[in-house]
Amino acid sequence: MLIDTYGRVATDLRVSLTDRCNLRCTYCMPEEGLQWLAKPDLLTDDEIVRLIEIAVTSLGITEVRFTGGEPLLRPGLVGIVERVAVLEPRPEMSLTTNGIGLKRTATALKAAGLDRVNVSLDTLRPDVFKTLTRRDRHKDVIAGLEAARDAGLTPVKVNSVLMPGMNDDEAPGLLAWAVEHDYELRFIEQMPLDAQHGWKRDGMVTAGDILTSLRTRFELTEEGSAERGSAPAERWLVDGGPQRVGVIASVTRPFCSACDRTRLTADGQVRTCLFATEETDLRAALRSGAPDEEIARIWRVAMWGKKAGSGLDDPSFLQPERPMSAIGG
Ligand code: GTP
Ligand code: 5AD
Ligand code: SF4
Repeated sequence: MLIDTYGRVATDLRVSLTDRCNLRCTYCMPEEGLQWLAKPDLLTDDEIVRLIEIAVTSLGITEVRFTGGEPLLRPGLVGIVERVAVLEPRPEMSLTTNGIGLKRTATALKAAGLDRVNVSLDTLRPDVFKTLTRRDRHKDVIAGLEAARDAGLTPVKVNSVLMPGMNDDEAPGLLAWAVEHDYELRFIEQMPLDAQHGWKRDGMVTAGDILTSLRTRFELTEEGSAERGSAPAERWLVDGGPQRVGVIASVTRPFCSACDRTRLTADGQVRTCLFATEETDLRAALRSGAPDEEIARIWRVAMWGKKAGSGLDDPSFLQPERPMSAIGG
């Protein structure tokens, strides 16, 4: 079991498969991209599967989410999913992606055993998409979403980040579209995890702003906390349901006390939190020939040291060195 000193138990493992991405979202990375991890530093497919196996057989992990960067850029993804799907006990498996490339891979991913996907889409306007992501790929994302739904990677969730002066007028439009296409929409508050360190608290769109905007067009009824569990999204029924909308208010309404996550970066470091300032090197242990029990022990010790929360409200808050794209969203 991965338990920390606050009594939280991590059952959800988020695995970053690459730090690379084929978009350049302004809230994430600069136009020119970043200094990517070198190939020898990345965990191999075998190393990833071995760590996931240790996590599910010895550490109580029941859910595995693949993230990036953009995880569809990892050539071995389908093979990794196939190998995780036969582990005992089999974890639930999901993927967080920008959706480009899903049209080509959704069926194979489903066949390999992936359960569901979350796709990032911040705008319904192709021109705004191009400004926000610096790439002209809006229609590829829409096609990817449809392919995921048709392949049964459901419920398909859509993640939207609203940026002031860019797409902050789109909340009701995005929700109407999501309801029409049977996607579960969640708005995410922008967090200080961008490579450029450009985040400003008073320049972000808050959960409160989003709800006010949605209520101009929809009636929202809050779901009880029992349904929420440890999920980061607070959810509302839209016009009486059954459709829902979520808000992930990591900044204004943090959910750290219910956190059930542990993370693995593409270069094999355990992170206890998105905002952790320290990491624990599992790759070195793996490559020095450590047995499974030793790796499990190192992972347990790392999680025991998990901090109470993100520290976002502390005057001394320091943004982690790794940006979101290298941590895994
Ligand atoms: P499901 O609801 O189970 O589909 O998972 P999820 O919402 O955790 O998955 P997803 O990868 O789509 O995450 C959505 C967003 O939630 C991320 O992009 C982050 O912005 C935020 N998020 C995810 N994990 C954490 C976390 O551990 N801490 C904080 N503060 N935010 C997180
Ligand atoms: N703040 C909030 N969400 C972010 N994402 C990427 N960077 C940030 C940030 N700084 C989102 C993406 C994607 C998910 C993995 O994280 O839009 O939906
Ligand atoms: Fe957990 Fe850290 Fe996220 Fe809070 S910010 S929910 S402690 S991972």
